[in-house]
Amino acid sequence: MIEHLQPAALALAQARHVVVITGAGVSAESGIRTFRDTMEGLWKDFDPARLATPEAFAADPATVTRWYDWRRLGCLAAEPNPGHVALAKLEAWLSETNRTFTLLTQNVDRLHHKAGSRNVIELHGSIIEWRCTRTGRKSTPPNAPFDEFPPRSEAGAPLRPDVVWFGEALPQPALDAAEHAMHTCDLFMSVGTSSVVYPAAGFAELARYRGAPVIEVNPAPTSLTRTATWSLRGRSGQILPHLLNAAMA
Ligand code: OAD
Repeated sequence: MIEHLQPAALALAQARHVVVITGAGVSAESGIRTFRDTMEGLWKDFDPARLATPEAFAADPATVTRWYDWRRLGCLAAEPNPGHVALAKLEAWLSETNRTFTLLTQNVDRLHHKAGSRNVIELHGSIIEWRCTRTGRKSTPPNAPFDEFPPRSEAGAPLRPDVVWFGEALPQPALDAAEHAMHTCDLFMSVGTSSVVYPAAGFAELARYRGAPVIEVNPAPTSLTRTATWSLRGRSGQILPHLLNAAMA
């Protein structure tokens, strides 16, 4: 028995434009580490200041790109879990009934695409694509480790992952698309994110301000829990399929 499942499912069944934001937790059941969980979080073992900033890349591009290549290969090897699949099914169901679905993700792993989600806005970029630091040209490296660090582009300049680092702006087209979606959102869901990183964390607040119900799915309380309309406690791979089934019933 999942507490609040029924009222949340009813709201989902009645919504016209569902906006979902996901964080690292949605990929945890695919074996990808989160950032801030006390036991498994990446930032427990690795210092973001030395790995996830433009300054770190300038100071030690070999170490930074080696670390990102390790994570890239892990993402490529991972498979979507039932949480990703439920979100893709939710999108298909809403579109069949002429309703709208927008998926904002802070994840860089591309697992939502792999599960079949279509309207995905990558707020923090993608680790699967890399870009030339001289020309800005993006490319998708093959599914094999780079043979030099930093790897080089065709232009001979270092490549970097096409992700957003601390201190960098989010991609403007992604931000514009997310803000546009929030104008007509009448149900907001926050799944597997600690809701501490802005501006992503601000979308749930905006939804509440506009009067849209907010459903949170997370095994642990977060800074959003207090203001969410319903907090569904548990893993997204377990909760989301139940929520979708109840909404579609
Ligand atoms: P966090 O690591 O901060 O939070 C992960 C959340 O997922 C926590 O609230 C967990 O309780 C929850 N969680 C764990 N397992 C779960 C499961 N099976 N199902 C559902 N939820 C689960 O990750 P994010 O909120 O994504 O940015 O972090 C946001 C950003 O901070 C990241 O995109 C990254 C990081 O620093 C950059 O690297 C720029």
